[in-house]
Amino acid sequence: MSLPFPVLTADQAAAFVNHGDTIGFSGFTPAGACKVIPKSIAARAKAEHAAGRPFRLGVITGASTGKSLDGALAEADAVAWRTPYQSDPTLRKAINEGRTKFFDLHLSALQPTVRSGVLGKVNWAIIEAAKVTADGEITLGTGVGAANTFLRMADNVLIELNAYLPEALTGFHDIYEPLDPPKRREIPIYSVKDRIGTATVKVDPKKIVGIVHTNVADETGGFDEPDEITNRIGANVAEFLASELRSGRMPDGFLPLQSGVGNIANAVIGALGENPGIPPFQMYTEVIQDAVINLVKSGKCTFASGCSLTLSKDKVDEVIKDLEYFRTRIVLRPQEISNSPELVRRLGLITVNTAIEVDLFGNVNSTHVMGRDLMNAIGGSGDFTRNAQISIFTCPSVAKGGAISTIVPLVAHMDHSEHSVQVVVTEHGVADLRGKTPHERAELMINNCVSPEYRDILRNYVQLSKKGHVPQTLHNAFNMHLAFLEKGDMRKVEWTTS
Ligand code: COA
Repeated sequence: MSLPFPVLTADQAAAFVNHGDTIGFSGFTPAGACKVIPKSIAARAKAEHAAGRPFRLGVITGASTGKSLDGALAEADAVAWRTPYQSDPTLRKAINEGRTKFFDLHLSALQPTVRSGVLGKVNWAIIEAAKVTADGEITLGTGVGAANTFLRMADNVLIELNAYLPEALTGFHDIYEPLDPPKRREIPIYSVKDRIGTATVKVDPKKIVGIVHTNVADETGGFDEPDEITNRIGANVAEFLASELRSGRMPDGFLPLQSGVGNIANAVIGALGENPGIPPFQMYTEVIQDAVINLVKSGKCTFASGCSLTLSKDKVDEVIKDLEYFRTRIVLRPQEISNSPELVRRLGLITVNTAIEVDLFGNVNSTHVMGRDLMNAIGGSGDFTRNAQISIFTCPSVAKGGAISTIVPLVAHMDHSEHSVQVVVTEHGVADLRGKTPHERAELMINNCVSPEYRDILRNYVQLSKKGHVPQTLHNAFNMHLAFLEKGDMRKVEWTTS
């Protein structure tokens, strides 16, 4: 059936966007992110800059995107400001050089923040869709993100209608937007599978300026094969959770699981699948990665609720081929629901996220290298960690070939405090920090998680302070970071006693 909306080329769509506009893009990770209009906007920005005219935008997304969005716009120097999360090397450079303003936000907070007006007016919602009807019912793609809020609040809408996505994707999404305080009620999800909203997003058809037809897969890179380190981290997490179950500290049926992004997270899920001590479980998570699909197929994961299907192309094709099987086992929700602190607490999630560095007392840095340069952003790690039943952080014990210990006396930037972080896992073992004093925590971290070549260095650090509740020595606390910055290796650290 032909639609009553103008059919545009990507260049024609891009021509509507003006310098200074704020755009809300669909998607969450490269899943569901637009792929052609942003590239044309980038080309337009380059042409405007070449003609001596300014052309820069405010860019809001669900989370990270693909190279055709963040990569292309950053390369064209077209991003004036950006929130809430990114992972693109060119954009990261622009942010760390101060050319693009970046505001980090908990991902669950994005939609309420947009609604509050703090970020100003949203001029455009530019959305990828699997299906659109004449009266404005939109079936989103593989990632929901904040698309429902952008579609409702934006003045105008442009749609990439992607024929790669089957129209039968309708029914995978559960779209629900809570009221804002003081009218907010509880979000009525009481078990992982509950559906509370609509399958599609309804938008006023008068706002749809045009449709660009595409036929292109999500730009998700594949996952690395798990290596020895990620396998050991995964196995340690799985064994820790199996022992929680054996000890009776966890309900028999297990608790729903959230798992972060990237290769370690993928390996953790794989290890949980293989551990015979872990019963079939459900996931209430943000990003559904390849390993989750394998477990859904094998029956070890009985249901997965998420915000996106962030899958390698082969896995997307697997899901598309067997849509009816997955339709009853997967639901995709907006990020303020997939990451809702209220729901994380109510459902009692086990959360597993990755740290850049952790200190001896359990404070975690997820976002900044050497306290200064942004890596990606906080993402959903705070939404989940702060409200978890059991919060776990994983990381390899060293980075940069051993020149960096990821466990340090004091994190150089703090995203998650010792009050929220319960368990730390590296390839060497598990530090269960629950019910432990700062002195006991430091001992557990050193004995169980620190790389052997850094254990004595950190023991010596703890020995420096004999007084106080926390064995911290402020004039030495960042000496390991300084040793890396000045001498290229944290093992060259020196402690001063005065
Ligand atoms: N100091 C300096 N650099 C470090 C470091 C440290 N302590 N630890 C890691 N690095 C470097 C690595 O060497 C690597 O550098 P390279 O790209 O030059 O090789 C880079 O940081 C990434 O490390 P890697 O081990 O590959 O990390 P990752 O892909 O597993 O990602 C985070 C780790 C923390 C960046 C990522 O999980 C993240 O962005 N987390 C925040 C958001 C989040 O948790 N989302 C999930 C919630 S649902």
